[in-house]
Amino acid sequence: MPKVTIDGIEIEVPDGTTILNAARMIGGEIVPPAMCYYSKLEGSGGKCRTCIVKVTQGSAKDPRPMPKPVASCRTTVMDGMVVQNITSPDLLEARKGVVEFLLVNHPLDCPICDQAGECDLQNLAYKHGASNTRYEFERRTFEKIDIGDKIKLHMTRCILCYRCTYVADQLTNTRVHGIMNRGDHAEISTYIQKAVDNDYSGNMIDVCPVGALTDKTFRFKSRVWFTKPVDAHRDCKKCSGKVALWYKGDQILRITARKDKYGEVESFICNECRFEKKRTSDWVIEGPRHIENTSVISQNHYETLNNLKLQITQQQKKLEKKSPIQPSPKGKTTI
Ligand code: SF4
Ligand code: FES
Repeated sequence: MPKVTIDGIEIEVPDGTTILNAARMIGGEIVPPAMCYYSKLEGSGGKCRTCIVKVTQGSAKDPRPMPKPVASCRTTVMDGMVVQNITSPDLLEARKGVVEFLLVNHPLDCPICDQAGECDLQNLAYKHGASNTRYEFERRTFEKIDIGDKIKLHMTRCILCYRCTYVADQLTNTRVHGIMNRGDHAEISTYIQKAVDNDYSGNMIDVCPVGALTDKTFRFKSRVWFTKPVDAHRDCKKCSGKVALWYKGDQILRITARKDKYGEVESFICNECRFEKKRTSDWVIEGPRHIENTSVISQNHYETLNNLKLQITQQQKKLEKKSPIQPSPKGKTTI
């Protein structure tokens, strides 16, 4: 069991653990951001460089530092390794450069993008990016493409993380899309604009960290922060049937897989659950979905209100136990 120290915190991890996963075992602010790595997709990672860290000591046997920042999602821990992430100003500066590169061709269309409010790139840019860009040249642009009747590909927003191609590779046996060309010409494409049509294709929408792949049944219906996510399940023969329903009023606007605190889906869902079960009566409702505090979705969120109500009730019960509630002189109940 090698021991690694990340930002001054030591942890013992199983052999073969990457620095990123070791950091996730520790948790909190020291976990590097990841735009292409996805723990549920084999072989993912190593494309975006947002997860870079500084290795100040390679191992106990060979304590030399690594000469440049390394991708933590692809570098395995060695015994005695010492790593810096948020404790290294140089590293944070380097990550700023990575974010600037990711944004070189990315349009600033957050106000009209369906992903706004739950976009990993938007969050990354706020946390780690520079406030402006030095890029002066023309950005590359693409026409929007329909890949099937449920998914829209807006290649202009793609950061080439490859996650959707891994979904196509690993969840279905009929992969019809991939990355064509190289360098500045690289793009996600089907051969050629063929429909991506299989039971699990909708998962490509969930794994896309930006607004490049969006759900056509939800596009432009609402900003996500006006919707209320609720956990629900159904007895499904194809997938776990565990989803998040996104309500506006009493209408289900969209259905997604549930995501964990790293923005990864807990379990992939089938297209039937995602696109064809939009009535409340199709589901067993479990309760409000917890959204990470950093998400704009949780701002003024009803879940917080529920929690507040719960806290008040618990507080009242405690006080009642200590001293029975006394009616006030005006007849109002006071605690
Ligand atoms: S479309 Fe989305 S998931 Fe696919 S490579 Fe581009 S950014 Fe990644
Ligand atoms: S998350 Fe490690 S390189 Fe993208």
